[in-house]
Amino acid sequence: MCGIIGVVSKKKSENVMPIVYECLCNLEYRGYDSFGFATVNPHLHVLKNVGAVSKFINQDNFPLKGSLGFAHTRWATHGGVTKANAHPHTDCTNTIGVVHNGIISNHHELRKELIKKGHVFRSETDTEIVAHLIEEELKTTSDFELAAVSAVRKLVGSFALVIGSSNFPDVLLAFRKESPLIIGIGKDKFFAASDVISFLKYTKKMIPLDDYEYAILSRDGYMIKDWRTMNPVNKRPKTVNWDFEMAKKGDYDSFMEKEIFEQPLAFRESFYIDKPTLKKVVQTLLSAKRIYVTASGTSYHAGLVFQYLLKELANISVIPVISSEFQNLAIVDEETAVVFISQSGETADTLTALRYVKRKGGKTIGIVNVVGSSIARECEATLYINAGPEIAVCATKSYLNQLSVLYQISFELAKHRGILGINEIEALEDQLKQLPELIKLTLGSINRKVSEIAKDIQYLSKSFYIGRGIGVPTAKEGSLKLREITYDFSMSFDGAGELKHGSISLVDSDMFVVAIVQNDETYDDMIGNIQECKSRNGKVITITSNPTSELIEKSDYVIEVPEANPLLSPVLYILPLQLLAVYVTKLRGLNPDRPRALAKSVTVK
Ligand code: F6R
Repeated sequence: MCGIIGVVSKKKSENVMPIVYECLCNLEYRGYDSFGFATVNPHLHVLKNVGAVSKFINQDNFPLKGSLGFAHTRWATHGGVTKANAHPHTDCTNTIGVVHNGIISNHHELRKELIKKGHVFRSETDTEIVAHLIEEELKTTSDFELAAVSAVRKLVGSFALVIGSSNFPDVLLAFRKESPLIIGIGKDKFFAASDVISFLKYTKKMIPLDDYEYAILSRDGYMIKDWRTMNPVNKRPKTVNWDFEMAKKGDYDSFMEKEIFEQPLAFRESFYIDKPTLKKVVQTLLSAKRIYVTASGTSYHAGLVFQYLLKELANISVIPVISSEFQNLAIVDEETAVVFISQSGETADTLTALRYVKRKGGKTIGIVNVVGSSIARECEATLYINAGPEIAVCATKSYLNQLSVLYQISFELAKHRGILGINEIEALEDQLKQLPELIKLTLGSINRKVSEIAKDIQYLSKSFYIGRGIGVPTAKEGSLKLREITYDFSMSFDGAGELKHGSISLVDSDMFVVAIVQNDETYDDMIGNIQECKSRNGKVITITSNPTSELIEKSDYVIEVPEANPLLSPVLYILPLQLLAVYVTKLRGLNPDRPRALAKSVTVK
């Protein structure tokens, strides 16, 4: 979950270090425990420290200079958050530098062997062994590429590596296995980065590396090869249709707020899905005997909505399983289809589930945001959600766009299954098209009220989020938003009915309860649940499109969202909960974009 970047300029006279710095800042959302830079000029110079890079260094007076550089922002896994453990890591001769994202699982054995050979280690990290392994290989060859390949072949685990050496000052090597690594092809510069946002300002042309591939970036050009054989791999660059401006905060205090308020625009983009792929996805699902949907966190909540949709619209049963438990629970064969939902397309748990399904011969469908990401490429059919770059750790606009794509799949399936009349389905399609306007209207109408409620409840650090039916995923998603950035204890259930089976004993005057009250057959039961919480002195915040006098009387606060078909309501009901999480976080003086111990792209299991 760390971020890595390497930049090589074609012009030896150009100083790329301010650009390396800029690219690294764009990767900070992947981790910000510590950071480090290296350049070769003519010796290997390393600069590192603990903390977030953007707090320490000023781009204009960047202390290192060089026409080639690499850098790292860390989310600690192996070894504590110390300067010694910050990357880049170097060998005994201080000529080889390495930055790494991933986990090298055989590092203990390799370290012992290297120590026996006289190597001295300066950090507790798994990464440092790579520098020493290359140093060792260079004792028997003068070829940097060969030495690095031989070293990488000894590694077990997952890695994206960028490697440079002062003895080979015109080249950077970038290796990939199971951790994302994208090569950027600029006019006069080459990049190797954990994601495309990092270098988007400089180029939209990119080549995502596949497992077992490496790139040689030099002043003369770039080459992609397979590190098992060292044979060249012919790959054409792709162009991403994201703009760098989309990845800027603008006038907002945080990326999370910016991304919440750009949802009306982002949602519209979700309508431009690839129609032939949609057809393929629908055919795959129609012919499957068993369908699973798997994902993690917010993306899993989108999967839960999909389960309700397919039951209601197409009488199709979908089994949702969180990705980290997929292999323990799912029965997969050739007649199984699995839908993988992921914003980043790199989540290790989801990727592991995907590879398991492929080994078992199941059909794989991806719903992904990041173009060219591992999940997007490895699924047989992938629909992109077109949410644009999502920078805040907390997922917001990607959730809404995932829902939109899942609606579009569900409507197509409904047409084939004939459970609903074509008029009903067309009416739903029309309503979906109107949602961007309704999202805008909702954000405008609730914003002030939510910020006032946030002021009132900011001192209550316990909460339950409850819903029934299609309101359950909304309750779960709202609760996740709150706890991930406020660090408050917040819980949700597989249905508000579960409250009375134990958890209601926690409700007291120190707790607020968010009730998702849909205007459907679950309404009366939700009133019952609100009543139960009120009689135990919980403060109730009700989200509803139908603020009856009964609801107003029984709730402490009522937030009204526009009426929409209940099946489409998750898109509108989640908006006040996204805002509530941001406003409580800000009132506490915390940064919503920087939740402690979390990173945007979870590439470790
Ligand atoms: C919550 C959040 C996480 C992600 C989860 C899956 O706000 O961001 O729970 O949803 O880590 O990530 P993706 O969708 O990239 O697979």
